[in-house]
Amino acid sequence: MSETTADMEGVLKALRAVAESTRLRLLHVLSRGEFNVSELTHILQQSQPRISRHLRLMTEAGLLERHKEGSWVLFRMREDGPAASLARTVTALLPQHDPVLAEDRARLEEVRRERAERAARYFAAAARDWDRIRSLHVSEERVEAAMRALAGETGRFGFYVDLGTGTGRILELFAPLADQALGIDLSHEMLAIARARLDAAGLAHAQVRKADIYDIPLNEGVADFVTLHQVLHYLDDPAAALKEVARILKVNGRLLVVDFAPHELEFLREEHAHRRLGISDAALRRWLKQAGLSLIKTHMLPPPPERGDQGLTVSLWLASKET
Ligand SMILES: C[S@@+](CC[C@H](N)C(=O)[O-])C[C@H]1O[C@@H](n2cnc3c(N)ncnc32)[C@H](O)[C@@H]1O
Repeated sequence: MSETTADMEGVLKALRAVAESTRLRLLHVLSRGEFNVSELTHILQQSQPRISRHLRLMTEAGLLERHKEGSWVLFRMREDGPAASLARTVTALLPQHDPVLAEDRARLEEVRRERAERAARYFAAAARDWDRIRSLHVSEERVEAAMRALAGETGRFGFYVDLGTGTGRILELFAPLADQALGIDLSHEMLAIARARLDAAGLAHAQVRKADIYDIPLNEGVADFVTLHQVLHYLDDPAAALKEVARILKVNGRLLVVDFAPHELEFLREEHAHRRLGISDAALRRWLKQAGLSLIKTHMLPPPPERGDQGLTVSLWLASKET
């Protein structure tokens, strides 16, 4: 079969895949975010086998992409390829006032509310622990302002990646400056919260994925900006993590690392699973060098004075990949 014929087949397959009412409804819903099969079953009020069959067909036709996260399989619209632009065009043509689509949208909002409530319950349970740590260093507002000031020098980003995104706060902070944003974390619970946060902030161009920082599911040289906020102190092998960052960064791409300076608060290791009691400037410089990254700037935020020697200094490092 010639290449042209194969391309024609691809377009035909995508056209056949959209030409059905349930599949149009699925496109309408998935153009508004990422959902798992049971959420889609609830939104469309159809049986799971039926929804799964449509999703499989649409994925095979290049309209959707799927990824597995624990027991969940999540679907979203594909962003590249001819079928993806067909999906966008078709979605734009759908009549918003159609009563079936309006009901789908109402149930979609229910799903979002439920996600947000689940996130709030988790936050409520963890809040006491987090408040104790937070009170030991300068306010998050000041840390975020310092991060923005350091990153701001680069202006807007094409593709932004937040590693160890947790509940997605830093992703939410920088995604508005990027054309496309991705958060990566190993924890399913954290990612569920991050998704609720991105939904609430209306950041449809940002997504999260369950993946390991040591083995990031991205090609070489794709990221313009990467953040690692309060993650390195959890890692066994930060040098290997920074090598993986260097691999995914574009030439001239930037990395912003934020972590605690070395401290002696043993309870953070015992009660909060910190592997390292802070990260020293010398260690970070060494890991950057080993990864082939160049340090551009550092910034230190000392703890509130009333904390005395129980306070935590927050360190920021901005680095770039020069070759
Ligand atoms: C203290 S939280 C920081 C979350 C977020 N960066 C923030 O500051 O709000 C550390 C996060 O790193 C994640 N993490 C730890 N090791 C990881 C690994 N190897 N790959 C991906 N994520 C990891 C944890 O699941 C956790 O969500």
